Amino acid sequence: MKTLTDFMPGMLGYWSRDLRSEFANREYLNWFGKSAEEMKGIRMQDLLGEALFAKNESYIHAALAGEIQKFERTLTKVNGETRETLAHYIPHIEGRQVLGFFVLILDITDRKHLEAAVVSVAEEFQRSLGQELHDNLGQQLAAIAYQASALEKMILSSGSADAAKFAAPIALQAQHTVMQCKQLAQGLLPFEIEANGLLAALQALAARVAISYQIVCEFVCASPDVWRDDATISLNLYRIAQEAVSNAVRHGRAQKLTILLASDSAGMRLSIFDDGCGFEGAAGCATSGMGIKIMHYRVKELGGTLAFLVRAEGGTEVRVDIR
Ligand SMILES: Nc1ncnc2c1ncn2[C@@H]1O[C@H](COP(=O)(O)OP(=O)(O)OP(=O)(O)O)[C@@H](O)[C@H]1O
Ligand SMILES: [Mg+2]
Repeated sequence: MKTLTDFMPGMLGYWSRDLRSEFANREYLNWFGKSAEEMKGIRMQDLLGEALFAKNESYIHAALAGEIQKFERTLTKVNGETRETLAHYIPHIEGRQVLGFFVLILDITDRKHLEAAVVSVAEEFQRSLGQELHDNLGQQLAAIAYQASALEKMILSSGSADAAKFAAPIALQAQHTVMQCKQLAQGLLPFEIEANGLLAALQALAARVAISYQIVCEFVCASPDVWRDDATISLNLYRIAQEAVSNAVRHGRAQKLTILLASDSAGMRLSIFDDGCGFEGAAGCATSGMGIKIMHYRVKELGGTLAFLVRAEGGTEVRVDIR
């Protein structure tokens, strides 16, 4: 059994009720730079140090009360290397008594880096696509719209009213496409946030959504005077709002949407609520979609919490709190 646990890709240990180590696999020993003899019977406080022990204490108590615990933690190895970990505390229960708990710690540093890379690649891709649409395709379409309208005038002035009738819709269609292209670019580029801040960007997002989908979409800021822009917070909240709005329209088939931003000395809240069918009503809840996963990642990066609430009046509320 010991041989098997030594080949496990993670740390596995067992702590007794009085928080003394009874077992640690090879990875566990290596992490803390201890021999099996040094580890046996060591007090958890002495192994982790008072600061880390204090951080984990609530999870330890809960495990000893019989509840499985799962949490992420940044840990520093004895060699000074910092790693991201996912820890599980699994109570060892016999009869009605908790005798101790198993600890399983997985190194998720690579996964964390990958998550960060996915979000930054997506952000970079949106930015370059938005720039291309705005600076290149948009400009070319604008030129076509201008030329089509000039052509229509030329044909009219040459007395061919019938032929001008054909040119007119081309000019109109091209103008319409220029507008759509601009709106697409605005959705992809965060320049509105960079230029005018999050409040203006959310206001513009609400207006774009209302026009594009022909629904009611409003932006409400409960405390515009105290709002202070921070580049990272603003970009992440904006992207979360975009995803939540898109989900509400696509999956919830919402007809009315509100984007609410509130901020006070205690923190800030972003809420997006819709009058749609809710998660239960949406087809295909077990999706391979990335939207909510990326939302979770962004909220974690901001040190906040994310909740999906069922509204009493029907529909869904996506709520982000940052304290
Ligand atoms: N406001 C909402 N109302 C109803 N259902 C929702 C709502 N938001 C999300 N969902 C449900 O949650 C699922 C997962 O959403 P998520 O954004 O992660 O993926 P997706 O939108 O399907 O794909 P992607 O975001 O990658 O384009 C959706 O497929 C849908 O079933
Ligand atoms: Mg989505």
